Amino acid sequence: MNPLRDPQDRRLPRIPEPCALVIFGVTGDLARKKLIPAVYDLANRGLLPPGFVVLGFARRDWDHGVFAQLVREAAEQHARTPWREEVWQRLAGSIRFVSGSFDDDTAFDRLADLLDELRTSHDIPGNAAFYLSTPPAGFPTVLKQLARTGMADNQRAGGWRRVVVEKPFGHDLASAHELNGLVDEVFTPADVFRIDHYLGKETVQNLLALRFANTLFYPVWNNGYVDSVQITMAEDGGIGSRAGFYDTAGAARDVLQNHLLQLLTLLAMEEPTSFDADEIRYEKLKVLRAISLPDDIAAGTVRGQYRQGWVAGQRAPGYLEEKNVPAGSTTETYVAVRLGIQNRRWAGVPFYVRAGKRLPRRVTELAVLFRRGPHLPFQATDVEMLGHNQLVIRVQPEEGVVLKFGSKVPGTAMELRDIAMDFQYGEAFTESSPEAYERLVLDVLIGDST
Ligand SMILES: NC(=O)c1ccc[n+]([C@@H]2O[C@H](COP(=O)([O-])OP(=O)(O)OC[C@H]3O[C@@H](n4cnc5c(N)ncnc54)[C@H](OP(=O)(O)O)[C@@H]3O)[C@@H](O)[C@H]2O)c1
Repeated sequence: MNPLRDPQDRRLPRIPEPCALVIFGVTGDLARKKLIPAVYDLANRGLLPPGFVVLGFARRDWDHGVFAQLVREAAEQHARTPWREEVWQRLAGSIRFVSGSFDDDTAFDRLADLLDELRTSHDIPGNAAFYLSTPPAGFPTVLKQLARTGMADNQRAGGWRRVVVEKPFGHDLASAHELNGLVDEVFTPADVFRIDHYLGKETVQNLLALRFANTLFYPVWNNGYVDSVQITMAEDGGIGSRAGFYDTAGAARDVLQNHLLQLLTLLAMEEPTSFDADEIRYEKLKVLRAISLPDDIAAGTVRGQYRQGWVAGQRAPGYLEEKNVPAGSTTETYVAVRLGIQNRRWAGVPFYVRAGKRLPRRVTELAVLFRRGPHLPFQATDVEMLGHNQLVIRVQPEEGVVLKFGSKVPGTAMELRDIAMDFQYGEAFTESSPEAYERLVLDVLIGDST
């Protein structure tokens, strides 16, 4: 077999088929800071197909020139890779804007026509991904418009049609079911990508490598050796100008039930038979089904709200003083819960999951704390500074892995202290990690839903 044609050959970059990326809500924060820069970075790395078009949709009454300028500014400001004018010029020729509101039928008809025209203008045979980067309230209307115009129909399009739904996915179980039903009615289930950008981060993917490519950690990855697991997402900032969204959500809905539970499943799941999306989803689901809540919810959970304080010598407002937060709001900005996993591997090991805003340091990490040795032949005073052995997987900032263990302090008789072996991506590899959204956009265009 010609190795250049072998799909398993890692020397070949994975490049999508000719396609269009339609971004609804293209003037918004997520599109400008993450999606457009990710598209530029992919183009810069040579990972986009020759036939590729970005179609932006939002209400503003802009002509093509104004829109192209916005896209350029967003890419220039937030791209990870260096700016190259020739890459931009090639991309700029493939950017279109459709102005309209989500309830405007004619705007969606125009969008459908534009997608049809791409067959002749850009040689794109019907493939398109629709990215719903809109306020969640807009999801159902956009989905219904995609159904009405036939844009979601693979057969009619003569290519694949995929949809990417950003979080939050509903606001409770019933609304999540309802949205799920609608999405699956409009698109074929395999064409639906529910994005959790945390899963695109290098360290999160490395968690699978760490656990399943090495023999070192496997034997101790269970309740015989693990004392507890702590999964933390601490942000030093407050809610900024996002009160409208945040006050209806709170920390548990915003990050705990999605990002942190995803991290928990990757840390706790059994080895999948392959890295196929379905196999991984199956293993994660088994973990989620085995989760037990604290018997006493009040004792096993904490909710809190940040108050006025000081950050780097500056007065920082309390949550209730933030702009547009309703007086007397009880929305939590901090949440912590102690979960159990009732299976043979994890029974008895507490999983502490916590997230909060305006905390002293910005860090997201998973810490596996190992049990202390059953017998330490040292003087009690020698081991005062010895903590649990720990494996800490840092997701952000400075992605990496730290192994903490006790070591003898030089010069003393036998005093022990914790030291850390620190692996940082930035130091170990010369290539910098792609942004999570770069990987996710590429995966969607390739059709890999892992
Ligand atoms: N920002 C983030 O970092 C982030 C992170 C994770 C998830 N998300 C999720 O991603 C989605 C987008 O967030 P965002 O922060 O980008 O929101 P945003 O800044 O409020 O942007 C919303 C976009 O939707 C458009 N839009 C709103 N109503 C519309 C309507 N009726 N018809 C047509 N266009 C409409 C707006 O365009 P015009 O105003 O120009 O019409 C704008 O482009 C949300 O679901 C959010 O929860 C965001």
